[in-house]
Amino acid sequence: MALMHHLSTSISSSSSAFLGQNAFNSRTQKVSVPVKNRGIPRCVATPPTEKTVYKTKVSRNENMAKLQAGYLFPEVARRRAAHLLKYPDAQVISLGIGDTTEPIPEVITAAMEKRSHALSTLEGYSGYGAEQGEKQLRAAIASTFYRDLGIAEDDIFVSDGAKCDISRLQVLFGSRVTMAVQDPSYPAYVDSSVIMGQTGQFQKDEEKYGKIEYMKCTPENGFFPDLSTVARTDVIFFCSPNNPTGAAATREQLTRLVQFAKDNGSIIVYDSAYALYMSDDNPRSIFEIPGAKEIAIETSSFSKYAGFTGVRLGWTVVPKELLFSDGFPIAKDFNRIVCTCFNGASNIPQAGGLACLSPEGLKAMYGVIDFYKENTNIIMDTFTSLGFNVYGGKNAPYVWVHFLVEARGMCSVRFLRRPTWLLLLAAVLDLAVKVLLGLVPLVTGAMS
Ligand SMILES: Cc1ncc(COP(=O)(O)O)c(C=O)c1O
Repeated sequence: MALMHHLSTSISSSSSAFLGQNAFNSRTQKVSVPVKNRGIPRCVATPPTEKTVYKTKVSRNENMAKLQAGYLFPEVARRRAAHLLKYPDAQVISLGIGDTTEPIPEVITAAMEKRSHALSTLEGYSGYGAEQGEKQLRAAIASTFYRDLGIAEDDIFVSDGAKCDISRLQVLFGSRVTMAVQDPSYPAYVDSSVIMGQTGQFQKDEEKYGKIEYMKCTPENGFFPDLSTVARTDVIFFCSPNNPTGAAATREQLTRLVQFAKDNGSIIVYDSAYALYMSDDNPRSIFEIPGAKEIAIETSSFSKYAGFTGVRLGWTVVPKELLFSDGFPIAKDFNRIVCTCFNGASNIPQAGGLACLSPEGLKAMYGVIDFYKENTNIIMDTFTSLGFNVYGGKNAPYVWVHFLVEARGMCSVRFLRRPTWLLLLAAVLDLAVKVLLGLVPLVTGAMS
């Protein structure tokens, strides 16, 4: 009897060279992939070495030792590279990091070019800047994303990306706090929590870390946790629109979340890295919810709006109203962390960020977002027409597909050992369909 696995698969339209214009064009090109049988590869063992290795007297950080394998995305990239080394002709669809593929609009790169050249002049040169970011950019972020929400320029900390800020926030909180996270979620929240020492050991049977409150988000609960079953924690990481499910929380749901945090005296770290992908009228910022300034921090990024994944620019909002239990302003401690552990975002990307928020830059940014949204629609329509249950997509570049896969007989598919979901971060439609049907080789990592 064939073994059937229930899987939900997240496909990001923003993520793949396969969906970029320069490789396979999902809109115009049909791609067919021959499946090659290249025989059974031979493994050659490395001979044991006699040499005694020198060891320091420094013991390994026990929290690092708790981490399972590598961070998800480098691990997926490593497996893909290893597979390609063995099978150079294999057509592999990357299930790895949700990277961007579209070029950065010229109105934005021109500003970075100008700033870069100015650094070669006496008048234009600048060294260390303000650790919190340039005043003009902080003001532009406040007026573009938080207009009428009571967020001021000095509540904003410009950074080298949301992921870096997530780790700096963990340093701010320290090792004694407890944390909750959506399940599934972007892996940086859990891994940074493990590294800080906030968690217990990894429980192999459950595939979860001890002391983390995993908030189940499934189609059954509309991808919003049943808060009546969620234990109190100090910090709640919440991402909307969500990577990887593509679900965006409604105003009513976020109002409940804010009330839940307030009742428990918790802090929400709200990740809005995909807010501009929203088509519905859902909140784009947690600060749209009354009272959120007293319980929330928001982190966001230019990465998925302007193709800044390599340029690196993001920001975090820490409102003055947010206080620790002893009344000390959290922003003051975050400022201390930023000044100590970071010296502020690079000045060239900051010039790019400012250009993003000019009228022409905003128009160009929305053009890039529309391109990815069109890909998302193609993926959604295709999977829907194939009879799959499809979620997300409308408010995020992530499409969450539920499907049944026959595990036995999938020749070269490295399959998951348990019902879970795959992070399918790339897809030419033809290829994606073939992968789902088990017709092409696939190397992947599982997220839990
Ligand atoms: C939900 C979420 N937050 C943060 C990030 C990281 O953003 P950045 O490139 O600004 O570090 C990503 C990247 O994929 C993400 O999906």
